[in-house]
Amino acid sequence: MMDKIKNILKRNGLLESSFFGFDLSKLSSIKTGGRCSCFVTAHKRNELLKFLGEYISLGMPALNIYPVGDATNILFADGDLPFLLLKLGKEFDYLEFNDEGNIAAGSACKLTKFVVETARRGYDFSFLAGIPGTLGGAVTGSSGTADKSINSMVEKISIIQILGKGIKQSEIVFNESTGLYRLLKLPGLFLVTDIFFRQANDLPGEKAIKKGQDENNGVYIKDVREDIFKKIRENIKTKKNRQPASTKNIGCIFKNPQNGSVSAGKIIDGCGFKGFKYGGAMVSEKHANFIINTGNAVSKDIYTLAEIIRQTVRNKKNIELEYEIKMAGF
Ligand code: EPU
Repeated sequence: MMDKIKNILKRNGLLESSFFGFDLSKLSSIKTGGRCSCFVTAHKRNELLKFLGEYISLGMPALNIYPVGDATNILFADGDLPFLLLKLGKEFDYLEFNDEGNIAAGSACKLTKFVVETARRGYDFSFLAGIPGTLGGAVTGSSGTADKSINSMVEKISIIQILGKGIKQSEIVFNESTGLYRLLKLPGLFLVTDIFFRQANDLPGEKAIKKGQDENNGVYIKDVREDIFKKIRENIKTKKNRQPASTKNIGCIFKNPQNGSVSAGKIIDGCGFKGFKYGGAMVSEKHANFIINTGNAVSKDIYTLAEIIRQTVRNKKNIELEYEIKMAGF
């Protein structure tokens, strides 16, 4: 089967950006996980479409395709995983601003770049500051803070849907419920390729920069951008103080329960878990909703510790924690 896949990759110009038996611990931000059959980075849209079309039409198992961004909130299982990991490359790493105040971006654009480049033009996405990964990953996982999701700012996205017998490109227009806390439900297996943000009249943007100048008779006094950059710096500082930055982790493990006002971190902390270890995995001393790889963890350690937490919270607090991280191969 691998030879067949290699041929399809070769025919579509993707062999050079493919790895076989790829070590997932090199990719995942928690640095654990086994090896996947194949890891492909698609730099060109037309090559990606042709490759997927051919892969599906030849009856290859569509379920084994696993889209990834920077793998900052995925736990890959240990051992050999029959996945074809698919990452979007150069042509999907763009960020465009037009005169009407629309922002369009590719899935592979880094969130950190997005926050800074939009701030330079007067758009306030400071609530996303300090979150790692790509825009595609952020939209798929509805990244954000405890009460604001990136998807509340998105107008629509383009996706490639992988269907039983072929692929389909379509657009999904977001509505109010799409922007809700950590919630995005899309049909079947899909790749987010492009993200279009709401009109700038909903966001301050360049108009606000100009307005700031006009209101002062054209004399430049205060720039809205200074406030946005200040907020970005503050948010990053708060995150560094409250969260275990620069450790091997995959972000918050569980979603905050939406029916109560107490965060998952506080609940887990209340069960006495800070510093609790299982194998090479440990609950962060800084924030109890983070599990850290102390150096020699395998994914099973992380998973087992997360399950111990989930069951303890269920028994002690009668609360059902829901995973926020994605798990692949479990
Ligand atoms: N708290 C504790 N103990 C802890 C952790 C938190 O008592 O171990 C308390 C804090 O003192 C605070 C409250 O719980 O009073 C809320 O904590 P925090 O401000 O850290 O926010 P959070 O609800 O735990 C959410 C997101 C984070 C996001 C932060 C800041 C979720 C699951 N988590 O955390 O997102 O960075 O707000 O905006 O929604 C992520 O999604 O991966 C993530 C890290």
